[in-house]
Amino acid sequence: MKPIVTALAGRMGDAVPLWLMRQAGRYLPEYREVRSQYAGFLDLVYDPVAAAEITMQPVRRFGMDGAILFSDILVVPDALGQKVSFEEGQGPRLEPLRPGTDLARLDRVRTRERFSSICETIDLVQGKLASEGMDNTALIGFAGSPWTVACYMVEGSGSRDFLQTRLWAYRDPDGFGELMRVIEDATVEYLCLQIEAGAEIIQLFDSWAGILDSTQFGLWVIGPTRRICDSVRRLYPEVPIIGFPKGSGHLAVKYMQEAGVTALSLDAGTPVRWAANVLQQTMPVQGNLDPLCLLAGGDALILELENIFAHLGRGPFVFNLGHGIHKDTPLEHVELLVEVVRSWKV
Ligand code: CP3
Repeated sequence: MKPIVTALAGRMGDAVPLWLMRQAGRYLPEYREVRSQYAGFLDLVYDPVAAAEITMQPVRRFGMDGAILFSDILVVPDALGQKVSFEEGQGPRLEPLRPGTDLARLDRVRTRERFSSICETIDLVQGKLASEGMDNTALIGFAGSPWTVACYMVEGSGSRDFLQTRLWAYRDPDGFGELMRVIEDATVEYLCLQIEAGAEIIQLFDSWAGILDSTQFGLWVIGPTRRICDSVRRLYPEVPIIGFPKGSGHLAVKYMQEAGVTALSLDAGTPVRWAANVLQQTMPVQGNLDPLCLLAGGDALILELENIFAHLGRGPFVFNLGHGIHKDTPLEHVELLVEVVRSWKV
């Protein structure tokens, strides 16, 4: 079994496996080189040859144990026919979807066509992993969780508090629930297609789980995640699903117990001692170095790595960041991190 898959099954070899969220991205000069040849970010995502090459870049450079598919959580709204674009330095822009919008116009035909190009990327990556002898590297597929995807679909961009989305959810839970169901169904279809194409692990990114109160968290984070996990498991019981309910604090316990995931990805705010005692006793965990600590490097980085390993290192554990790698991160800091992780013996 590949090391990450083994760790997610609750067992450890003699080393801690590693990959980094957003490892395929702008901190890599070879990514910026390919990116500069494409006008739009989504043009790159929907070009399987380029996307497969980018997926491989961090694996070749650093020997990561996981190859995360190069794509984005916003391909689901794009596939549903909502206009999505990425403005340089501003993040995503979508045509906002507000209460009263006719959800029937979210179109399932286009969905299949968009998803099939991403499946082609997965197929190409599996070919490269095999031909380049990377037998220990697992291909990680992913999607955004419906709550986080809905946040972007309703707000139309990133936001500090996603006010419009949260107001809709409070004022009209039935109408908002209908939108969530459309996203949920498309996400199940998308994840099953990814597994069919060769994804060996799935990660569900719920980047905005932490802005909800505990009642809303149950409704919009735990409920949809549970239904997605159940649907995917019915067809692919052996594929591990990592949940990342970012910022959920103590609600991570409820998520662990009820959302149906195989493992929990921890954000940097999660105290590692608490995580070891309360979470890791029940399921494998992944995380949780602060991306800014990696950006800073030096003694701060070494000390924090020691702290994380002292508490979580015996496993079951997959090393990762607590959120995506910062675009200004020096390559030498990543090299140092990989060296330190590799020197830890379980
Ligand atoms: O390396 C990988 O992790 C694989 C690919 C990946 C991307 N986005 C590529 C990307 C993954 C797993 C994501 C997840 C994603 N996308 C999330 C969840 C994780 C998180 O960061 O909270 C979210 C919320 C998004 C939505 C998104 N995509 C935003 C807010 C932005 C703009 C801000 C930013 O960081 O650039 C993107 C664009 C994006 N997605 C880029 C990349 C490499 C940069 C675009 C470019 O190169 O022009």
